[in-house]
Amino acid sequence: MKSISLAEPGKFEQKNIEAPGEPGEDEALIKIHKIGICGTDYHAYRGKQPFFSYPRILGHELGVEVVALGAHVKHLKVGDKCSVEPYLNCGSCMACKNGKSNCCEKMRVLGVHVDGGMSEFIKVPASKLHTSAILNYEELALVETLGIGCHAVNRAEIKTGQKVLVIGAGPIGLSVLEFAMIKGAQTTIMDLNTDRLAFCKKYNKAHEFIQADAIPEGLESAFEVVFDATGNPHSMKNAFKYVGHGGKLVFVGLFQGDYAFPDPEFHRKEMSILASRNSLPADFTYIIEQLEQKKIDVQSWISREIPFEEVITAFDGLLTDQTLVKAVITV
Ligand SMILES: NC(=O)c1ccc[n+]([C@@H]2O[C@H](COP(=O)([O-])OP(=O)(O)OC[C@H]3O[C@@H](n4cnc5c(N)ncnc54)[C@H](O)[C@@H]3O)[C@@H](O)[C@H]2O)c1
Ligand SMILES: [Zn+2]
Ligand SMILES: [Zn+2]
Repeated sequence: MKSISLAEPGKFEQKNIEAPGEPGEDEALIKIHKIGICGTDYHAYRGKQPFFSYPRILGHELGVEVVALGAHVKHLKVGDKCSVEPYLNCGSCMACKNGKSNCCEKMRVLGVHVDGGMSEFIKVPASKLHTSAILNYEELALVETLGIGCHAVNRAEIKTGQKVLVIGAGPIGLSVLEFAMIKGAQTTIMDLNTDRLAFCKKYNKAHEFIQADAIPEGLESAFEVVFDATGNPHSMKNAFKYVGHGGKLVFVGLFQGDYAFPDPEFHRKEMSILASRNSLPADFTYIIEQLEQKKIDVQSWISREIPFEEVITAFDGLLTDQTLVKAVITV
């Protein structure tokens, strides 16, 4: 079967590899139809993804079809269309025991720590498949991205009418906006990238739009919840000032380094600072329902569709395309 491996930073190789055999008792053999490309893949390609080893088959945002099932699998049938929850957790650590499989101590993410879905077929634990009879493979591939925002919004426990600022209008910031809007928040999006703000305006992704290099007065201490989805340490530090008294700051974006913050501001406001990582199985179920009910539109995010055979030549261009929101590969 065909497969693309990231041999080393900056170098993909397409080759024919042996197809996976029959699934084990609790496994499913799946055919990959669509693969979303995300920041993690770009970081790995650039050689900037920490704790990443090469060669690695990327691909963790997957829209797939069930081809064969192990004897113990009852919740699926051959032909089912599914989204893959790529977080392979241990089931026995403190986080797993407390229902927080999203931050398992021994987390292995498909396409990051173990080989992912940039192949025709892979085998996965069947419990990691979430099916929908209605959604198409592109929508199913983007459920994982949406999960990042869904989980972050759940962490913040947003209530109707609350003022919410999202900094960073990339796919992750967009996914936060979708669920903040569903919760009935009054949303403001801030970014440096005019094309991304224009995209948000065009598709009504938020109520207000702020150019980050021309910030108007009146935003200080103005929000019940602030999400930083930039991964930029300067933006993350700056985000403190927008949080209102008694408010919350959620770091969805992340960076490799230490973080310092002004204690007087933190205490005066009695601020809650939250990290948000990955998402939970229940988030997948909820997101699929929201997509099926057309409460979320991800089709507008897809600004590039790339045939599998063109991935290697197209990849460099994706890294520099300022207008790109999301690229999806067709296998
Ligand atoms: N929490 C998780 O589990 C999780 C999962 C996936 C990705 N992430 C992280 O989320 C972050 C965002 O991912 P993405 O794919 O959307 O990235 P992206 O690069 O596509 O988007 C980031 C956006 O932030 C904007 N930005 C950068 N600096 C800014 C500043 N100072 N002020 C305002 N806007 C600024 C950029 O213009 C860009 O539009 C990354 O740090 C990524 O590693 C977190
Ligand atoms: Zn991703
Ligand atoms: Zn665990």
